[in-house]
Amino acid sequence: KKILFATSEAVPFIKTGGLADVAGSLPKCFDKKYFDIRVILPKYACMKQEWKDKMEYVTHFYMDLGFKNCYVGIMQMQYDGIQFYFIDNEYYFSGPKPYDSAPWDLEKFAFFSKAVLSVLPVIGFRPDIIHCHDWQTGLVPVYLHDSFQENEFFRGIKTVMTIHNLKFQGVWDVKTVKDITGLSDYYFAPDKLEAYKDANFLKGGMVFADAITTVSNTYAEEIKTPFYGEKLDGLLNARANSLRGIVNGIDYNEFNPETDPNITKNYNAKNFRKEKIKNKIQLQKDLGLEQDPKAMMIGIVSRLTDQKGFDLIAYIMDELCQDAVQIVALGTGEERYENMFRHFDWKYHGKVSAQIYYDEAMSHRIYAASDAFLMPSLFEPCGLSQLMSLRYGTLPIVRETGGLKDTVVPYNEFEGTGTGFSFVNYNAHEMLATIFFTESVYYDKKREWNKMVDRAMAADFSWNNSARQYEEMYNWLIGE
Ligand code: ADP
Ligand code: GLC
Repeated sequence: KKILFATSEAVPFIKTGGLADVAGSLPKCFDKKYFDIRVILPKYACMKQEWKDKMEYVTHFYMDLGFKNCYVGIMQMQYDGIQFYFIDNEYYFSGPKPYDSAPWDLEKFAFFSKAVLSVLPVIGFRPDIIHCHDWQTGLVPVYLHDSFQENEFFRGIKTVMTIHNLKFQGVWDVKTVKDITGLSDYYFAPDKLEAYKDANFLKGGMVFADAITTVSNTYAEEIKTPFYGEKLDGLLNARANSLRGIVNGIDYNEFNPETDPNITKNYNAKNFRKEKIKNKIQLQKDLGLEQDPKAMMIGIVSRLTDQKGFDLIAYIMDELCQDAVQIVALGTGEERYENMFRHFDWKYHGKVSAQIYYDEAMSHRIYAASDAFLMPSLFEPCGLSQLMSLRYGTLPIVRETGGLKDTVVPYNEFEGTGTGFSFVNYNAHEMLATIFFTESVYYDKKREWNKMVDRAMAADFSWNNSARQYEEMYNWLIGE
């Protein structure tokens, strides 16, 4: 069976968030005997030269888009056993970052989505299923339904639309979208691309895809309600039979405290009691924190946006910093949150460290060094950071929403169960009380804490289970 992943990012080539981790690591986990999985993404000028040098030119042609005739270059590379294709077009993909703003991004990804289909006969790969990720590829099922179906080659190809984040939908006014996509009036109706008078790429994908998935069970339920539904809860309810949640995993080879070359001291489930702490000591030194191996270190690695609950953190930072804790935050994003962390770094120097940049190696060091990991999201489709933390024996403190609820088992002191700490309501003091509780276990019940670390490190969030669920869905769609 042939599957094509269409995505706007994938590790190791380009990453702005968890989507890249998923699109780069999941394809490796399918049963190669039955599945030929390939991945297609744009060739961005901002990719590292190292990757661009390794790409091999296949061919190019020209494709109509709206009123334009566009160059479509095809590059390819085998990486880690997976065939990757890259769509080359310097006009669309030359920016300093993969994403810019609407409507430019909409035109860019309309181009990409149509190109994904156009290249298939050229490279001679006819997938049984095209698996689309997020709004950037929302038009793939739409274009497929439109002109491509007339062509024998495309007939019967199925599509899956996976929602990694319903907040981002690719929305702009109908007239502009008609022009840039070249789609006919037929598609701009409320039962198709139109939503609240505008045109909506993700909605198009959700209407025309054969199956819709999202990245955790809880989020799959949540998005059918108005609070989490981002105004598409009606459609999600109408398509509830085609909607399912499949929780994300992480690459257990890449995120492995036993072999990770980025961290100071490797450790495993047997020796973490002695070895893990060496990572904390070195990080304290390197970041200018008080050198106190006993202090509970709370890590944060995140895009700094409202989604991640930073307004809650802003409320209680002063109170929290009266306690014996250290906070290390690595992230970039909204200026007010970057400045908030810089401010507290200055105010509580030695206790708070703000690392306002993007750095893969530093993220691994923080997952390894911290005792706890704070992620109080307002909503969270899945979340990968808490899975990475669990893998490194760093106990997550999370709000019970979306994937956080599905992957972190709250500590139950009476039963001796759990892998982390959680709270329900989006409330700063509820979060603070949970952090205080975390501290009390850390400082006063070290044995209990260590047992929890044992459980966290034993939890399995590799792709094994979830890849089987995708395989099952593919088989069902293909009719086997
Ligand atoms: P989202 O996709 O919503 O940003 P996830 O938890 O699914 O959230 O994935 C975030 C990914 O991005 C994780 O792999 C995390 O380690 C990484 N990440 C976020 N910010 C940074 C940063 N500043 N430096 C390095 N890695 C980061
Ligand atoms: C999105 C979500 C995040 C999820 C990731 C990968 O960026 O915000 O929760 O883990 O996609 O699916």
